[in-house]
Amino acid sequence: MHQNTLRAEKVDEIHASDLEIPHGTNLGTPDERADLLLAQMTLEEKIGQMSQVNGGGWDLHKSIQEGRIGSVLNEVNVDTVNELQRVAMEESRLGIPLLIGRDVIHGFKTIFPIPLGQAASWNPDLVKQGAAIAGLEASSTGVNWTFAPMIDITRDPRWGRIAESLGEDPHLGSVLGAAMVQGFQGNDLGAKGSIAACAKHFAGYGAVESGLDYNTANIPENELRNVYLRPFKAALDAGVATFMAAFSDLNGVPATGNEFLMKQVLRKEWNFDGFVVSDWDSISELTVHGYAADHKEAAFEALNAGIDMEMASTTYAGNVQTLIDEGKINEQQIDTMVCNILRVKFQLGLFENPYTNPEQYPALVNEQHLQAAKMAAQESCVLLKNDNQALPLSKTQLSSLAIIGPLADDGQEQLGTWVFDGESHHSQTPLQAIQKFVGDDLIIHVARGLDTSRSNDKRHFDEAVQAAQQCDAVVMFVGEEAILSGEAHCRADIDLPGHQEQLIDAIASTGKPITLVVLAGRPLTMGNIIDKVSAVLYAWHPGTMAGPAITDLLFGQTSPSGKLPVSFPRVVGQIPIYYSKKNTGRPPSHDNITHIDHIDGGAAQTSLGMSAFYLDAGFTPLFPFGYGLSYSHFDYSDIVISDQHINLGDTIHFTAQVRNCGDVEAQEVVQLYIRDLVGNVTRPVKELKGFEKITLQAGESQTVSFSLHTDDLAFYNRKMELVTEPGDFHVWIGGSSEAELWGEFKIL
Ligand code: BGC
Repeated sequence: MHQNTLRAEKVDEIHASDLEIPHGTNLGTPDERADLLLAQMTLEEKIGQMSQVNGGGWDLHKSIQEGRIGSVLNEVNVDTVNELQRVAMEESRLGIPLLIGRDVIHGFKTIFPIPLGQAASWNPDLVKQGAAIAGLEASSTGVNWTFAPMIDITRDPRWGRIAESLGEDPHLGSVLGAAMVQGFQGNDLGAKGSIAACAKHFAGYGAVESGLDYNTANIPENELRNVYLRPFKAALDAGVATFMAAFSDLNGVPATGNEFLMKQVLRKEWNFDGFVVSDWDSISELTVHGYAADHKEAAFEALNAGIDMEMASTTYAGNVQTLIDEGKINEQQIDTMVCNILRVKFQLGLFENPYTNPEQYPALVNEQHLQAAKMAAQESCVLLKNDNQALPLSKTQLSSLAIIGPLADDGQEQLGTWVFDGESHHSQTPLQAIQKFVGDDLIIHVARGLDTSRSNDKRHFDEAVQAAQQCDAVVMFVGEEAILSGEAHCRADIDLPGHQEQLIDAIASTGKPITLVVLAGRPLTMGNIIDKVSAVLYAWHPGTMAGPAITDLLFGQTSPSGKLPVSFPRVVGQIPIYYSKKNTGRPPSHDNITHIDHIDGGAAQTSLGMSAFYLDAGFTPLFPFGYGLSYSHFDYSDIVISDQHINLGDTIHFTAQVRNCGDVEAQEVVQLYIRDLVGNVTRPVKELKGFEKITLQAGESQTVSFSLHTDDLAFYNRKMELVTEPGDFHVWIGGSSEAELWGEFKIL
């Protein structure tokens, strides 16, 4: 075994390409080596490479020895992993190392905010750093492949997996998804600390009907290409090693058996040369979808579509030989798939370095990792409301503070969904951090109010009300427990669960100013509660360092800078609601809508207006995409467009002045949106095309610049051609998708 050196004093160095890693380059390229190895393999061994099984304590010795397993998931005991690798290397005929897969979704032991929270940071560097640390920690236990990032665009907060997503927008999802890939994989997949990433779930899973997990998805090809596929293409361009097929069916064809997705788009159009893994049992489930009659047919459909590796189910192991004997598939197809897998194993340097020595890695949950997690949590919090400058709280102006709610001091719930390896004993809770920060300066009264976020038991309300009465101000920690979002955890009603709203009512009746800190795995509908509180800090599930991050924000040690990566509906019936909508033939405006309460009895039909709005909910979200307040405010002015007319193939430049008009230093996410006024297919009313997170001192101004090549304005037309069309465009620069500063240009 080679002794690799690992220096990780700075996160930048985690993937330093100057590490002394032998890659066996003298043995040939991964391609050549895969071919050579393949030539020596029996069909059974090939099928073995295409089979991934669950570890987690199962005795896999014999199957690995016989070359019947190429990958194991969910085994994170380093001694077991090393032993499995030893069996693969030393006792199997060809000595092919194993891929060890794990869902390292937002941290391994040091837990970062859920991906949706990280997306709210709009900070690709932070997101990349989070993935690098997650990958580094995971690889110290022998994991060499993560099933992340999940880059399913979703516009439905009922879907529990929105927590794992990067939100509603293809541009934001592309930039941040690519950053995650770069973080996990580093510059060199073979470097110690790098693990293979997996772009999932290809494709359309985020559009499951009714926000119901595993449900059918129907997406016209044009919309699929213009919206849902874009982050996957960005992940591919960032070098992602693997893709995972979605559970869902897309336009009637389950993704796992979908030739159009896997062959036409991924291989033919995009030239992907990594490998595709199914989702858990998703090949055998082709029979349940009613897409294959039995497991043999299911295996055929998945093979034919191009699913290189089967996760969990065993239809390949049971049927490939027969399918070949029957002439339904040929061995060359299998060879191509096995090579796709072997290449990644060679790229990872596993043949040279199959074993893991945890001592060569920095400690798990070390101070550097915790600080990075704190920074990520801080930048992911979004300040949604701050009436009368209720925030920041001041230790000098207050003498007492009530901390109320079920999520103020719960180290487990703050971690969020998909934390197989995170441990709540590392968590620093908001209550702990606030108490530490205020010391003896403030009297703190604590009341949980409700045992859990779902509790309907009002038994502790009086105690909570008393705590509020005794204090100058109240901070309430409400939201959802971790288990209420994530896979198969969808909600049809996305109000605060349990009696939390009633708890807010009870506290509001004291007349004390309330700051609500919401910990949740999705946008919750807050139409009923928003007017009852002075301030709302939306913290998502912030991870291990929730406490210190939130405390710094509440007390103004730093200003909130998160912006929403997804629109917040007022009521669930508005879903899907997203900023990048189509104009329709009858767009609503504040002048042409009516509210249900203002309709006269017996009103004639024409008096109700004629535009796309709800009588009871209007047409706007509660909070729009890109929105988020800070303790300062920013003025946007002087938009300058380099040219009024440009030709196809040119680049156009935009600048605007951004001024920090407040009296504290703060970060702002400057956003660039465009609208293509007329298209061969209808175009969205706004599309994010660029963003930059800047820091400005009080009173400071900065000129922020963006450039767009005409290719950046391309879209798929009716014939599914990617084209930029001449015509008129509008452009906006501002602090949310409702930016007002705008200009126009033309492509000739
Ligand atoms: C999920 C995947 C995950 C896999 C392995 C499936 O249920 O859909 O996202 O990577 O399990 O745990």
